[in-house]
Amino acid sequence: MKIATTRAVIATAAILLAAGSLTACSNGSSNGSSASTATASSAKIGLLLPDSVTARYESADKPYFEAKVTALCPDCTVLYANADGDASKQQQQAESMLTQGVNVLVLDPFDGEAAASIVGEAKAKNVPVISYDRLIDSPDSSAYISFDNEKVGELQGQALVDDLKKTGVPAGAGIIMVNGSPTDNNATLFKKGAHSVIDTSGYKVLAEYDTPGWDPAQAQTWVAGQITQFGSQIKGLYAANDGTAGGAIAALKGANVSPLPPVTGQDAELAGIQRILSGDQYMTVYKALKPEAEQAATLAVALAKGQAVNGTSTTNTAGGAAIPSFLLVPVAVTVDNIESTVVADGFYTAAQICTADYAAACATAGIK
Ligand code: GAL
Repeated sequence: MKIATTRAVIATAAILLAAGSLTACSNGSSNGSSASTATASSAKIGLLLPDSVTARYESADKPYFEAKVTALCPDCTVLYANADGDASKQQQQAESMLTQGVNVLVLDPFDGEAAASIVGEAKAKNVPVISYDRLIDSPDSSAYISFDNEKVGELQGQALVDDLKKTGVPAGAGIIMVNGSPTDNNATLFKKGAHSVIDTSGYKVLAEYDTPGWDPAQAQTWVAGQITQFGSQIKGLYAANDGTAGGAIAALKGANVSPLPPVTGQDAELAGIQRILSGDQYMTVYKALKPEAEQAATLAVALAKGQAVNGTSTTNTAGGAAIPSFLLVPVAVTVDNIESTVVADGFYTAAQICTADYAAACATAGIK
């Protein structure tokens, strides 16, 4: 996919957001109700992120979000907390923010089901909650902002299957799958999308694992066990994100597997992009985190001031509630389109990617 398309999609979403969704709330509708509404120029906004084993949260989501809030509302305050992969810690963090009088919560749940109780407590205080990146299993979220996550899985599965076919790996050959965390609704969607391609590809899933807390170390341990069990039968490796891909590749290298099978990823982490350049990882999925975080900030400021949110689509929770949603489009990245995706979009500069170890690979890949 050309980067132009991505920009167009993001721009469209932003226009929809600006034009369609922000209307002054005069009748006290369910989103952004009166009791917690902030003054015109200031608000307390809570940002709760799920883990610190994945690079994106501290290096992208948080700074993009804070910068947008400051731009939109210089007197607003952002209260930030990272759950470090612990649902009860996130519960405590949210309760502390509610006690401190936040006007809105932006919550990326470590555990989508457990986080429903946070939404319940917030609702009791008339504090709206935005489901950020991961869907909270609650009918009372005011909005959901994310990507088309099943599409992420489809892109990963397709890239893996295409590469196996391109390199002549015969049908029936084995793949192992390192999925994401079982408490993360996104992981379920990635897995579903990947299986929708892999299961009809002719290749065989030898084994798969749901990685607790998306922990790269646990992914590494599991893959090491699969190498012992299946050895050279492993012709392809599905990893749900770059963090777990890094763990899987460390296990493969630790077992002196050579050549490495194609390995997928997600998040376009710098380390992931550099592994693609060195040939250790085959692909990743670029999700433009800046527009995602900025949309969340824009909605948070609006909700804090009592404005209603309409969304550009709706997403159903497991319980069947339709949540107003803003879903962005993911992009598959291989060595062939690093320049036209993450560099062209300003996610990284060529200088950040093409450090001494990768300079030659960058030149070959046309990254400048
Ligand atoms: C997912 C998120 C991914 C990912 C993972 C690990 O929910 O969409 O970008 O890296 O969590 O935190």
